[in-house]
Formats: sequence, C-alpha cells, structure tokens
Amino acid sequence: MNRLLCWAAAAAISVAGTAHAETVKVGLIAPFSGGFAIWGEQFQHAVEAFQKVNGTSVNGNEIEVIYRDVGGPDPAKSKQLAEELILRDGIKFLTGFAFTPNALAVAELITEANMPTVIMNAATSVITRKSPMYVRVSFTLSQQVEVLANWAYKEAGYRNAYTLISDYAPGHDGEGQFVKTFSEAGGTIMESVRAPLSTTDFAPYMENVLQAKPDALFGFMPAGPPSIAMMQTWASRGVKDAGIPLLATGETQEIFLDAIGEAALGAISAQHFSLDIDNEQNKLLQATLKEMFGEKSVPDIASVAAWDGMRLMYDAVAELGPSADGAAYIEFMKGRKIDSPRGPIMIDPQTRDIVQNIYIRKVVMKDGKMTNETFATVEQVKDPWKVANPE
Ligand code: PHB
Repeated sequence: MNRLLCWAAAAAISVAGTAHAETVKVGLIAPFSGGFAIWGEQFQHAVEAFQKVNGTSVNGNEIEVIYRDVGGPDPAKSKQLAEELILRDGIKFLTGFAFTPNALAVAELITEANMPTVIMNAATSVITRKSPMYVRVSFTLSQQVEVLANWAYKEAGYRNAYTLISDYAPGHDGEGQFVKTFSEAGGTIMESVRAPLSTTDFAPYMENVLQAKPDALFGFMPAGPPSIAMMQTWASRGVKDAGIPLLATGETQEIFLDAIGEAALGAISAQHFSLDIDNEQNKLLQATLKEMFGEKSVPDIASVAAWDGMRLMYDAVAELGPSADGAAYIEFMKGRKIDSPRGPIMIDPQTRDIVQNIYIRKVVMKDGKMTNETFATVEQVKDPWKVANPE
C-alpha cells in the first residue's frame, strides 16, 4: 500500500470508529454569583474533579458541561435558562438546582421535553413527584430531620423542642418532619417559628428561643448567608451558653466553619455526607479537589451530589449511548446503586429519590481545626415523607 492509500484506509477506519460519537451536552443551572455563589463553585469543582479522574468522554462521546448562573432562588430565571439549554444548546441532561423553587419551576418543561433532570441539591420531598423526568442525588430535608428528631428524643433525652426554619418549601418539610417525629416519640414542641428566606438578622428570633427555654432548638436555613448568621447568633445571643443545643442539617458543613467561627463548636447535625466517612471514593474526591483547587478546597453536599450525579449520567451514556430517549435514561437510573463518597447509595426505583446513610455529627476542634465528627449512623434511609404520603 502506498502512503496515500495507507492514509485513506486509516481515515476510513477512524471515521467508522467514531461514526456514532457525539458530544453529550449537560446543562447545569446553579447560583454562580451573589450570596449563594458557593453552590455553583462547589458543583463545578466537583464536576471538574470527576472529569479529571474519569475522563471527559464516555466510549468516545465527549461529555460537555454547560454552566448557567441563576443567581439565587429565582424560579422564572431558572425556567428561562432551562428553556435555552434545551432548545438552543441541545442538552441531553439537565442538572444542578441548589434551590427547591428553581427545581420546581422546570417540572412541566422537562416533562414536555422528555429531559432527564438530575437534581444535585433541591431537597423538598414533593419535587420528584412533579415530573417523571426527575432523579435526585442529594437528599430530602425529611430524610435528615427524621433521624435528627429521633436522636434528639431517644438518645439525647430532650423532651421540649423549638423549631426555627426558613419560610419556604424545604423549611416547611423540615419543620413538619421534626414536629411529627419528635411528637410521635413523646416530645413536646414549644413553638414553631418561620423566618423569611432572606433573613440574616436572627437576634429577635434567638431572644424568643431564650425566653422559651426549650431543651433543644431545631434550626434550618438554606446553606449560605442565612445559615451562617443563624449559627453565629445562636452563640452571640447567649442561647448556646444557656445550654440550648442547636440541631442542624447542612449549616455546619466545613466550607462554612471559618465564616461561622468558634460559635459553631458543639452544634449537632444530621447529614448524608461527612468528611470523616472512611471509603476510597471520599478519599479520591477530597484529594482531587485539593490537587486541583488548593489545600483549602473541601467537599460539601454540593460536591458529593455533583460527583455522583456525573457518575449516574456517565453510566447512562455508557449503557445506552449518546442519543437515547430521555425516558430510557431515567429507566436506567432507577434502582442504580453507586459507591459514593458518602457510602452506598441507591436511586429508589419507585420514587426516583435517593436512599442513603444519614450521619449524626458534632462540630469539634481537632488538631487546631474545626470539623464535624460523626458519632452515629442510620443506614439506608428512605425519604420518610414519601412513605407517609403515598401517591
Ligand atoms: C432547597 O431549596 O431545597 C435547599 C437549599 C439549600 C439547602 C437545603 C435545601 O441548604
């Protein structure tokens, strides 16, 4: 064969070999600016870490993630961005969604567009009921709070509790679950107070807690400026010193501990991820983030959801190819089990919601650094709201 023929044969083989290779676009909607910008940054870092470890292609199909800034809780913007990603950019998967209202805003659109949508945070139980195209790789507030309220009554021995939540859907879920589980166990709820989503002045709220003198305070604020302020004011207004413990969920994550300061010490939280979970994926995630983004980079719940969400989408493309029917991708994801940095997880085949361990932790000082220390684990928890509210 002369050189030209050789070249032609090689080109033909390479064209045949990549005939079905495509670029699979994934649209990720999250806040990348404003007070909640940490969500977008943590999602993106974990996506890039995942692609560094696993490559940017699946069977020759390039996986390209397109990031869109929704700013904060802004359902109209979320819907507009999703429409553009679907109609103009030609995405095959939609993902991200830190906030419940932003996830709910795309329910009709993704159903009509047959668009598989992997929720990386938004944690209100009902979301996955609003479209068959949702799969959730984060958590539900109810899932964490059921474990927290049971621990509060049965293990810690608290008998009277006070709840303080952000006045929007996931807060309502958290409040509802705490009241239900704590009351059913035998406890008394002294007061249930709701603060507007944008609240960062918690002084009047903490004064009220101090007056009520509960055995424990359950608090939920969306991770960011409101959650940092709630934690700080719990300490600065003397609630902590009065011996009233704060029972939290995502508020005490390591990414916020420097901003909160030593006020956070002693806070208890129920979470589906913790830095101290001992498994290979957790080590790999933490090491890759540090290598790529510096020593200070630590994973949070956004990181672990992005890492696992990418795994789910990569596995779906590996199994079904780059251009399968959207509903077929969802079918593939149902029942899927993953070894996650948070431990074993499964996408429940009936609800498309996540089944996972919930860890109970306490903020402690260790080697001169604050961190969450896990002291109890409840294994493979399903979303209790869905169990209590069958379709
Ligand atoms: C939500 O909007 O569902 C949400 C946002 C931030 C959190 C938890 C839940 O930290």
